[in-house]
Amino acid sequence: MSGQTRGYSDLEGPGGNTNWLEKQESRSRRSRWIVIGSILGLIGLIVIGVALGVTLSKKSSSKSSSGSSSGAVNQSDPNDPSTFQKDANLKQSFYGIAYTPEGSQYPACGNSLDQVITDIQLLSQLTTRIRLYGADCNQSALVLEAIKQTKVNMTVWLANYNIPTDNTPYTRQKAAIQSAIETYGTDHIGGVTVGNEYMLNYLNANGATDPNSAVGNQGAALLKTDIDDTRTMLSGMNLATHIPVGTAEAGSYFNTEVLEDVEYGMSNVHPWFANVSIDQAASWTWDFFDQQNVEPAAALSNSPKMYIAETGWPSNSSDAGNESNGPSTASTANLQTFLDTFVCQANQNGTGYFYFEYFDEIWKDQQFGGVEGWWGLFYANRTLKPITIPDCQSP
Ligand SMILES: *[C@@H]1O[C@H](CO)[C@@H](O)[C@H](O)[C@H]1NC(C)=O
Ligand SMILES: *[C@@H]1O[C@H](CO)[C@@H](O)[C@H](O)[C@H]1NC(C)=O
Ligand SMILES: *[C@@H]1O[C@H](CO)[C@@H](O)[C@H](O)[C@H]1NC(C)=O
Ligand SMILES: *[C@@H]1O[C@H](CO)[C@@H](O)[C@H](O)[C@H]1NC(C)=O
Ligand SMILES: *[C@@H]1O[C@H](CO)[C@@H](O)[C@H](O)[C@H]1NC(C)=O
Ligand SMILES: *[C@@H]1O[C@H](CO)[C@@H](O)[C@H](O)[C@H]1NC(C)=O
Ligand SMILES: *[C@@H]1O[C@H](CO)[C@@H](O)[C@H](O)[C@H]1NC(C)=O
Ligand SMILES: *[C@@H]1O[C@H](CO)[C@@H](O)[C@H](O)[C@H]1NC(C)=O
Repeated sequence: MSGQTRGYSDLEGPGGNTNWLEKQESRSRRSRWIVIGSILGLIGLIVIGVALGVTLSKKSSSKSSSGSSSGAVNQSDPNDPSTFQKDANLKQSFYGIAYTPEGSQYPACGNSLDQVITDIQLLSQLTTRIRLYGADCNQSALVLEAIKQTKVNMTVWLANYNIPTDNTPYTRQKAAIQSAIETYGTDHIGGVTVGNEYMLNYLNANGATDPNSAVGNQGAALLKTDIDDTRTMLSGMNLATHIPVGTAEAGSYFNTEVLEDVEYGMSNVHPWFANVSIDQAASWTWDFFDQQNVEPAAALSNSPKMYIAETGWPSNSSDAGNESNGPSTASTANLQTFLDTFVCQANQNGTGYFYFEYFDEIWKDQQFGGVEGWWGLFYANRTLKPITIPDCQSP
């Protein structure tokens, strides 16, 4: 996922504040494949498909756009969001789902509580867990407020999308997270994720590829500073329950010193970007996650819990040329196949995953084209795509 290698913190501002992540973006898209290919080669994995594997990174975020729809969910009492009508087509079959409220890119922002309430009403019919990518534009409080008003069973992993070159975004989001926890308490919080593909971005910016090289460890030290600072902030808050601190990373870019410093890791694992055909996508995803993430983490003394931060399949492409990546082809039929072969099976074998993603994000299509804007279960207007949601209760 290409496009998503960018930090949203400074990207979408009026005046096009181009930061280093943006400049890195096209380079990192290419280098990622190459790097992952060689890492896997070194490890000597033989599984077909894995040698070419790539985990792309994806990052979700959105800006205000024409996609909003306030009529996607009806309530029997218009003033009480907990009285929403359930949609029989939705099943609570996903372990978790990746979510960024529309309009949460600093400094443009533009999100709204009404839209977040609609989203939580829909998401709660699909899962009991969501993860955010950052904390700008008040999104932590909006999501927790929406959970409160809808009275749904939902746990959210809050997040701080920090960057290596400027501490301001980290500090700003830290304050927002602290404030949201003070207001809403810990009941609906599963963790605080510090970093989104921080190591991948740091390596790309510094001409390195190995997350455990000397350069990688320099980046890791910077990331750990923010992880430790978040932990200190939480432990100073006198909380009712412990909140774990983790990090989210492209699947092949976890640094061991970072993993040793977190309670959980979230890994982006993307068969489409790894040129895996749809018939092998689910098993490839499971194998990659198990070999690259679960087993290495289990070998560490702190045994961080590993989740898939993102996995999914695009239903469309804005141009025919980008519809296929090798044998992986974007289509609604293939999205359906991925759902049918991954979701209930992953539930059964205990994989903790956040499906990518909830809805099509228009800003991504506008900015990156190709398949970037077409990964949703729902269209941008919150109408369910013509797919059948798998019917199994998630753990
Ligand atoms: C909500 O109610 C309106 C009016 O009854 C109806 O037209 C619309 O289809 C309903 N929407 C949903 C998502 O059920
Ligand atoms: C809420 O969801 C969690 C899983 O996220 C589950 O363990 C729990 O039983 C659910 N609670 C209720 C009341 O359904
Ligand atoms: C953030 O959202 C919460 C919940 O809707 C609201 O109470 C609060 O005023 C918002 N803060 C800002 C700065 O917009
Ligand atoms: C776990 O589920 C995945 C599909 O999500 C499947 O490919 C894999 O073989 C399963 N693993 C085991 C050990 O059952
Ligand atoms: C698929 O993408 C094309 C090109 O952007 C667009 O015209 C079309 O409406 C999209 N299809 C759907 C079902 O959204
Ligand atoms: C794929 O999309 C990119 C970005 O929109 C575009 O520059 C490129 O020409 C497209 N590739 C093909 C083969 O159409
Ligand atoms: C995936 O396939 C595309 C062609 O569709 C090719 O350009 C690219 O190099 C392939 N990537 C890998 C990692 O094999
Ligand atoms: C939502 O968007 C989809 C895809 O563009 C379209 O087919 C559908 O008619 C739209 N639904 C509504 C209610 O506007």
